[in-house]
This record gives sequence, C-alpha cells and structure tokens, in this order.
Amino acid sequence: MKLLLLGSGGREHALAWKIAQSSKIEKLYIAPGNAGTATTGENVNIKADDFEAIRQFVLDKGIDMVVVGPEDPLVKGIYDYFKADESICHIPVIGPSKQGAVLEGSKDFAKGFMQRHNIPTAAYKTFTRETLNEGMQFLETLKAPYVLKADGLCAGKGVLILPTLDEAKKELQEMLGGMFGSASDSVVIEEFLSGIECSVFVLTDGTHYKILPEAKDYKRIGEGDTGLNTGGMGSVSPVPFADKAWMQKVEDRIIRPTVEGLAAEGIEYKGFIFFGLINVEGEPMVIEYNVRMGDPETESVMLRIKSDLVDLLEGTAAGNLNEKTLEFDERSAVCVMLVSGGYPGHYEKGFPISGINEVENSIVFHAGTAFDAEGRVITAGGRVIAVSSYGATKNEALQQSFTQAQKIQFEKKYFRSDIGSDL
Ligand code: AMP
Ligand code: GLY
Repeated sequence: MKLLLLGSGGREHALAWKIAQSSKIEKLYIAPGNAGTATTGENVNIKADDFEAIRQFVLDKGIDMVVVGPEDPLVKGIYDYFKADESICHIPVIGPSKQGAVLEGSKDFAKGFMQRHNIPTAAYKTFTRETLNEGMQFLETLKAPYVLKADGLCAGKGVLILPTLDEAKKELQEMLGGMFGSASDSVVIEEFLSGIECSVFVLTDGTHYKILPEAKDYKRIGEGDTGLNTGGMGSVSPVPFADKAWMQKVEDRIIRPTVEGLAAEGIEYKGFIFFGLINVEGEPMVIEYNVRMGDPETESVMLRIKSDLVDLLEGTAAGNLNEKTLEFDERSAVCVMLVSGGYPGHYEKGFPISGINEVENSIVFHAGTAFDAEGRVITAGGRVIAVSSYGATKNEALQQSFTQAQKIQFEKKYFRSDIGSDL
C-alpha cells in the first residue's frame, strides 16, 4: 500500500521507521517530514494541516492510508474532512474524529468525560471570566500546590503549578485575562496529585483496542528533573512500576471505560490514545489524554513493537483490531534527546550536525533537523535528534544511548545524562 504520514518530528521519524519495515508498504510519503524521514520514505513539502493540499496529493498519488502524527490536524478535523469529501472518503485516516480530538483539545471536556465514565482523575472545577470570583473561592478550599490548566491547546505550556495561594490567584486572573489567548478563556483548577508519571498508549478501532508498550518521559530540561518543561528529553520502556497488576488496573479502570465511553457518546475514534497517567500510591489516575502518540515516547515504544504496525493500522481502520496480533520485544528500549543549547527558551538553529554515520547499534531518529542548500543536515528545532537503543536491561540500553550520543556533534548540543536513573 501507499501510505502518507503527517508530521515532522522525532515521533514521525520513529513511526516512519516502523512503518517502512512492513512488507505491506509499497511507498511511504511523509509530509512535511525532516532530514531523517527522508531516509525512510519520500518527504513531501506539504504542511500537516494543509487539508486541501493533502487531498490533492492523496488523489494524485493514489494513497491508501493517512496516518496523523501530531494533534493539530486532528483537532482541526482532518478525519471529518476526509469523510465529508466523496473523492477521498474511502481512504482511512488513522486518528480520531474532530469530536474525539476534543479529548486533547479541551481539558474541560476531558475532565467531564472522565467524570461521566468514572475514570479516576484529580478533582476539578472549570471557571471563566464571569466566574472568576468563584474560582478564587475554590482555590481557597484546596491545598498547595495549585494546578491551573488553560482549557485549550497551548503547545504544552498551558499548565501552571503554583506553590502558594497568592500566586495561584494572580495566575488565575492572568489566564482568564487572556494569557494564552482564547485557549485560556476557560481554566480548569484541579487537585494536585503526587506520584510518578507513566505514558500508556493504545490503538483503538472504536470498539476493540490493543495496548502498546508503556513508557516514561522526562519533561524537565535539567538533570534531576529540574528547570523548565520541555517537549520531552528522553524516554524509557518498559516502566518498572507498570507491572502486570498495575496495568490490569489501568485497563479495567481507565482504558476500557475510555473506549466504551467514546462509543457510548457516539464519538468516532480510530487511532492512538495516549493516557498520561500518574501512579498515586499504587493507583493509576489520569492526568491528561492526548489523541496521538507521545514524543519522545514513540522513539522507544516503536522499538518494542515486534509485530507489523501497518497490519495493526489496517485493523484499526477496518474495525477488526481484535483479529490482529501485537507482540512486544522483551528487551528494554530507551531514547536520549539531543537538544539545542538554550531550549526550551531561545536557541539558535542552522548548525551543521556531524557524526550521525559513526553511530553504531543505536537508532538515530531526527526531530528538528533539515537540509541546507548544499544538502547537509543542520539543526532546525529545539529538540534535534533522539538516540534510541535496545538493551537487555534499561541500564544497558541507556549506556548504549549515552555513548552514541557523544558521537553526534553540533554547536551547543545538550542532553540529559540522567534519563532513566530515577526508576
Ligand atoms: P498536562 O499538560 O495536563 O499533561 O500537564 C503537564 C504536566 O503538569 C503533567 O505532565 C504533570 O507533570 C503536571 N500535572 C498536571 N496535572 C497535574 C496534577 N493534577 N497534579 C500534579 N501534577 C500535574
Ligand atoms: N511526551 C509528551 C507528549 O508527547 O505530549
């Protein structure tokens, strides 16, 4: 089949790497892709949310399936766009409908959904400019620290955790005053949960689901989980505390009620669900839903899927995922992210990257890379390259990634050398 993958990050390179291994693939296109995806398929210069250009490309090339990497096209309704157009409605789009994507697009909707289906999550209330005073009063009933979340998409920046009541009140006022534009017209205030986080992924065809390998992501820029939040500095799979008993709780209390809840509410969903979980004294609770795979989790999760991903995606589209097999690789897989100095604040781009070809026995996934006019690979983003490795143990895999990470050079390169050491 001819498959079009949308997106341009490390997640998409890892998806492309896995998809390209399938015997079912005749041709893989990535739009827009990066310097890494160009080695696993053909990059196409179309933005992931340019639906009209995607439609034309799909028709011109006879594409059989579209896989959506990032949330943006999903929240904008690419699934529904395809369904509504007679010329492309027969082509499956892997990802939820626009209504399903609201699970990520609106924190208030996600919280309400969890409440309706008895899915464990932090207690919460939602406020708007009109109910600011009630919001202030609600904050007074909570204990520090205070968690404030902009309702809409804010590229991962919309969550504030404040140590004091005064700061929380001040930030609530600012958020409702337009700090994140219309994304913070509504603000969710919720109870603070204390525990270790874990990302769990499923593929669902709307009725059945397959649970993919779980992973832990390292969000802070600094070693020892300090400093600013990033898109993610590395990941590890499996996660030791996510043992059989814990995952059974996740499936019974969170995954099944979510898939059944979507179906019961008539929400079409054929794609990945990312459960951002936290382990509170042995009990899994949901921090957030995403309607896509995680980044950089995908850069370790894909290594642990032995089965043909395209076969699973076909089952997702056809509604017979229950007839497909998903086998895990029992080894550990990790990813260490090399980032531009200064990230997640201001950083420079355009530095040449060397040493990629010297990497041995690891997999180099490109995130923010591009080609310059001479065809050399250069930095083009904050997160630049993920070095992913297998190991008989987590530590073996980590050592392998750290050693190979030294070989790749670009100006102001930085990575965390403590990924996985807390587990
Ligand atoms: P979110 O965008 O909802 O994933 O939130 C970003 C990060 O904020 C999460 O990954 C958690 O580390 C943290 N966080 C969000 N909600 C809570 C909560 N209720 N309690 C503690 N930490 C939270
Ligand atoms: N790694 C977290 C995310 O993809 O949102």
